[in-house]
Amino acid sequence: MREVAIVGAGMTRFGELWNQSLRQMFVEAAAGALNDAGADRVDSMYVGCMSGGQFAGQEHLGPLMADQFGMTGVASVHVESACASGGVALRQAFIEVASGVSDLVLAAGIEKMTDGADVTNVLATAADQELEVYYGVTFPGLYAMIARAHMHTYGTTEEDLAWVSVKNHRHGAKNDKAQFPTEFTVEQVLSSSMVAEPLRLLHCSPVSDGAAAVLLCPLDQAKQYTDRPVKIVGSGLATGSLALADRDDPAFLDSVQKSGERAFKMAGVGPRDIQVAEVHDCFSIAEVCCIEALGFVERGKGGPAAKDGFTAIGGCIPVNTSGGLKAKGHPVGATGVAQAIEVFRQLRGEAGARQVEKARIGLAQNMGGSGASSVVHIFQGV
Ligand code: COA
Repeated sequence: MREVAIVGAGMTRFGELWNQSLRQMFVEAAAGALNDAGADRVDSMYVGCMSGGQFAGQEHLGPLMADQFGMTGVASVHVESACASGGVALRQAFIEVASGVSDLVLAAGIEKMTDGADVTNVLATAADQELEVYYGVTFPGLYAMIARAHMHTYGTTEEDLAWVSVKNHRHGAKNDKAQFPTEFTVEQVLSSSMVAEPLRLLHCSPVSDGAAAVLLCPLDQAKQYTDRPVKIVGSGLATGSLALADRDDPAFLDSVQKSGERAFKMAGVGPRDIQVAEVHDCFSIAEVCCIEALGFVERGKGGPAAKDGFTAIGGCIPVNTSGGLKAKGHPVGATGVAQAIEVFRQLRGEAGARQVEKARIGLAQNMGGSGASSVVHIFQGV
């Protein structure tokens, strides 16, 4: 296997991008990545997107995006794994470069959620139709059940969960790409409107548009494109039961644990070596469960981590320095690639006001559905 590096990154702002179509967002992000690396070609492309068909009436994104990008003819394929589509696109690009099949591969993620689709029902296609959706469950509802289970088993409180949002909005307020770069207090979170008890509006990631892209090449060619490449040293993908009721413990995300273990093993590092992490906080409880499953805190001890400052910038392990899905936004297919971009910027010392000092090793974890798929990447500055 060849060593692989990211040499360029580009992304749109996240938010309600009324004046940009799916293809325009893709071109902005992809051109940003190539310009960042000073590259003028790609050998191959992966386009992560959860549901171009249902959100924007457009499928067959591989050839469409290659064509729109002026790269007609290159290998280009659409990758889908619900909200983990972007992270899985990155993994496919990593494998293609590592295997020696291609040298210059673009991993992109994209989603256009605000074009008028019934967003809650489209998102629910990532849950189990027969065992969950048929009975009226939505994604906020599924994560509300996870939150209730965590509170019941481990004593996590509504205030603990509110602190996850407060912390991520503090980070996001320093990110000019964020959809909601606004700080909130615990009181504001706890008095925001109820969505699915105990989760309120300010516990939820928003509905977003956006695109993100990174350019990968073999490490030994990286200096042609940048003097600060970032190595991908670990990649792990795992699955779990789609239906929450089929899991042994609904308050624990097995797929996150397994994908993390696989990435740590490949990288030859452990949770304590990670200095900055982006994890999938689609709802505040998800961040709590993810930091436990990744081994940043003990099982059941994730609740107070944000309140205690453990996961804040300046804390033991800063989590979601970009603002996370909560503040930065969550255009579902784009999220996994945008997480990698935040870690890429951190490890190059380019994160500005939210920079984690001397960060050398970082992690990005991206999840599909209520945790039925999870992909983890570990990165190292060169
Ligand atoms: N965080 C902060 N503010 C938010 C927000 C969020 N997540 N979502 C909306 N807002 C703001 C809006 O800007 C708006 O402000 P305004 O009144 O000043 O203009 C206000 O809150 C109401 O927004 P609206 O769009 O009417 O909210 P909504 O009730 O239609 O949707 C949610 C809110 C939480 C239900 C929706 O964002 C949602 O479904 N989120 C979860 C998405 C999801 O499941 N993703 C997949 C995860 S696996």
